[in-house]
Amino acid sequence: MTVAVEPVSAVGEFHPASASDTARLGLRLAAALKPGHLVALSGDLGAGKTCLIQGIAEGLGVTDIVNSPTFVLLNLYAGEDATGGELTVYHFDLYRLGSGEELEDIGGIEFFADPHGVSLVEWADRMPEVLPESRWEVCLEHGTTADERLIRWRHLVAKKVHGREIA
Ligand SMILES: Nc1ncnc2c1ncn2[C@@H]1O[C@H](COP(=O)(O)OP(=O)(O)O)[C@@H](O)[C@H]1O
Ligand SMILES: [Mg+2]
Repeated sequence: MTVAVEPVSAVGEFHPASASDTARLGLRLAAALKPGHLVALSGDLGAGKTCLIQGIAEGLGVTDIVNSPTFVLLNLYAGEDATGGELTVYHFDLYRLGSGEELEDIGGIEFFADPHGVSLVEWADRMPEVLPESRWEVCLEHGTTADERLIRWRHLVAKKVHGREIA
């Protein structure tokens, strides 16, 4: 069962005061995501990318424990879409990867296009060249106290001609 919450708008910002606030924003982001979407997260170490992703994954019906894949490039989780259909949640961490080409070589980019998947990508700003034009951009920053953060997001939608994305 996915959790019923108010989806976020296409553009917004939020000032969480705790890790649980951030995870709750993740639930609301999940409610706005559709199969095939990609979320590109950026922010320093400890900014809360994994914490936000834990909320997103919960909102996408993932029941497994979601951990940081920092020592792994990718973790896969079984989630579900809004109608209860199967949805694969791909959790990438590009921190240790040298280049977008490397990600391409190991076939990572193919998952971005899975119409029955959602990709959640930490350190996505390190290889913008491999990201699809249509994506959710989420930037996390530290705040003035240890538990405050600033989280900003926007949903970019590529222009399409006859159903195909154009630059
Ligand atoms: N408002 C907040 N949002 C997210 N994490 C927070 C917040 N306040 C404190 N934290 C703590 O900061 C750390 C964030 O870690 P993590 O989500 O792994 O960051 P990242 O993936 O960006 O490196 C966690 O230990 C978490 O408990
Ligand atoms: Mg992380």
